[in-house]
Amino acid sequence: MTSRPQPLTVPAPSLARVTKQPAGHRPADLDTSVFLADMIAGLSKSPKQTSPKYFYDARGSALFEQIMELPEYYPTRTEMGILSAHAEDLADFCGPNCLLVEPGAGNLAKVRLFLKNLRSPAGFIPLDVSGIHLSQATHGLRLEQPGLKVLPVCADFTAGFSLPQVPSDRKVVFFPGSTLGNFEPHEANRLLASFAQVAGKNGGIILGVDLRKHPSILVPAYDDAQGVTAAFNKNLLFRMREELGAELDPDRFSHRALYNEELGRVEMHLVSTVRQTIQLGRHIFQLKAGETIHTENSYKQDLAELVARCESLGLRAERILTDSRQWFAVLCLSVGKTA
Ligand code: AVI
Repeated sequence: MTSRPQPLTVPAPSLARVTKQPAGHRPADLDTSVFLADMIAGLSKSPKQTSPKYFYDARGSALFEQIMELPEYYPTRTEMGILSAHAEDLADFCGPNCLLVEPGAGNLAKVRLFLKNLRSPAGFIPLDVSGIHLSQATHGLRLEQPGLKVLPVCADFTAGFSLPQVPSDRKVVFFPGSTLGNFEPHEANRLLASFAQVAGKNGGIILGVDLRKHPSILVPAYDDAQGVTAAFNKNLLFRMREELGAELDPDRFSHRALYNEELGRVEMHLVSTVRQTIQLGRHIFQLKAGETIHTENSYKQDLAELVARCESLGLRAERILTDSRQWFAVLCLSVGKTA
């Protein structure tokens, strides 16, 4: 009798779900009724607040791809610069026979920057909610690196998932993109703890985070001159109208990005430019002129605070890689090792 290897099952960290990378297509389980219920709940709050996961339908994902290319949006190119400059350091941190896991893998552009440097990797598991994205991206990777075992898993990393068991000397979770910043701090802690559980004892996490900096750099990154981020934010209104039959006029809203110094986060809002209503099914929401719908937080990290927070979760920062301006950091964290 052959015993089948048991998949590693990671429980849901009970988070508000935020899709890390452009998902391309809405996952089947995020159906219209959930979208509707979440919008009703969000618009019933005071102040009104919705989840950023709803930015990412096909149009929102395409807009996010454009955002990453904008001159004002420094995080993507800064992080990619760090990853390529430190490809060897990252490979050292992973060690030989490492199984690399990337939650919310998207187009695999970032992992490619150091995947080739890994020494006899045990395999690579990209996780993404979009099966189409995943199969396209992994097809390309398999052609580029035929010797690499690529085992894609279609899953929402915030909802609990199972991983195929692959023999390895070490597991490392790769979580770039400063996506951690889109979670509230307590949710981010739970997410890091769930990644630590995936990596297990002796495992590691490679984490990309955006650092605190002057609002004159932060705000334009979320309010660009071409208006791409404004379109990305307003896409939520179009989705509500098209998919939920909401009665609203997107032209009566404007995009606002601000830096909340006290909380260390960039906030995005949709500002009602006039007194108006949004009708969603049998619900009618009143908006005063100037009232906002808070659509996203993007927390910027204080490096010392983040390192201390990681320590408190049993994660030791073995290496901290940054760019020359110290705008972004990639942390190599070891699981189960605190000072
Ligand atoms: C996906 N996430 C890390 C982006 C960010 O910077 O918080 C989302 C984004 N929102 C507006 N621009 C980019």
